[in-house]
Parts: sequence; C-alpha cells; structure tokens
Amino acid sequence: MPSTRAIYPGSFDPTTNGHLDLIERGSRLFDQLVVAVLTNIEKEPLFGVDERVEMLLDVTRKMKNVEVDTFSGLLVDYAKQKKADAILRGIRAFSDYEYELQMALMNRKLEPKVETVFLMPAESYTYVSSRLVKEIFRHGGSVKGLVPPVVEERLQEKVFPKKL
Ligand code: PNS
Repeated sequence: MPSTRAIYPGSFDPTTNGHLDLIERGSRLFDQLVVAVLTNIEKEPLFGVDERVEMLLDVTRKMKNVEVDTFSGLLVDYAKQKKADAILRGIRAFSDYEYELQMALMNRKLEPKVETVFLMPAESYTYVSSRLVKEIFRHGGSVKGLVPPVVEERLQEKVFPKKL
C-alpha cells in the first residue's frame, strides 16, 4: 500500500484546540501529517516562528506520524517539495467556506496533483480562532479550554510579562 502524506498549513499564531483537533483527525486519516507554519505572514504575528513551532512540537509530541515544519512562498511549491498528496484545511463555519474554496481552487490551478481535503473540527471548537483567542486574552478574558495549557502559559508570558 502506498503511504499518504498531507500538509496542514497555517499561521498557528497561536495553536488553538481547534487546530489540535484537526491535527488529531488528520493524523488518523493520513500516514504522515506535516504541520507547516507559514513564516512570512502578512499581518504582524504575536508569536515568532520559533515560538509557534515550539508550541506545536509540544502539543503533537505523542503523535508519532506528525511532523512540524516551516515554509515560505507558495504552499503548492512546498507541498511538491515534501511530496505531499494532499493539503489539509479545516472548515469551522459557512463563513470559512468562501475563502477556503478560493484557496483550494487556486492551489489546484497551480498544482493539479495536490488535492485539498477539508475536515470539520469538533462542534465545540467551531467558534474558536487564533484571532479571537488573542483578543480575549489581551482584554483579560479566560481562554481556558480554547487552547492547550502550554499555549495559555505562553500567552501569559507574551502578553503580560512579569516585570523583574
Ligand atoms: O492559518 P491561516 O492564516 O488561515 O493559513 C493561511 C495559509 C498559510 C494556508 C495561506 O495563507 C497560504 O497558503 N499561504 C502561502 C502562500 C500561498 O501559497 N498563497 C496562495 C494561496 S492560494
């Protein structure tokens, strides 16, 4: 049986429980899953690439077929370089669909051999996004249950650093 490899790309600024849910689903579906952190985000990220990678490594440590990597440039070029069969993306709500469809079709136009596969996270994470997590945290709200504990700690250090 030939093995299947998928790329799960994103900004992961920071990883949420919704991302983690999708990684778990992807790792069950594919023989290998590469979680790929985009290094050149257009918007200013809260966490540096190394920090985002460290958090992902931490939360995926027990999943033996999951690799964490970084990429820049076009996703399809990276997917080809990694000899991936598929790009994995999550769709939470109807509002994600338009953007995701556009990206999937554009990626197909650029590289017809790489399929985009969509998975839905657990219903309890359909409203979770990195953007909202950061916004809530900055305003003193609780993000418990929305992000892994290690991410909560990192948010605390980053947003409310202890004064020495
Ligand atoms: O987590 P995000 O920010 O929704 O992820 C978006 C991402 C990284 C998947 C997308 O911006 C991307 O693929 N960027 C790489 C550049 C690229 O290939 N752009 C053309 C997409 S059609």
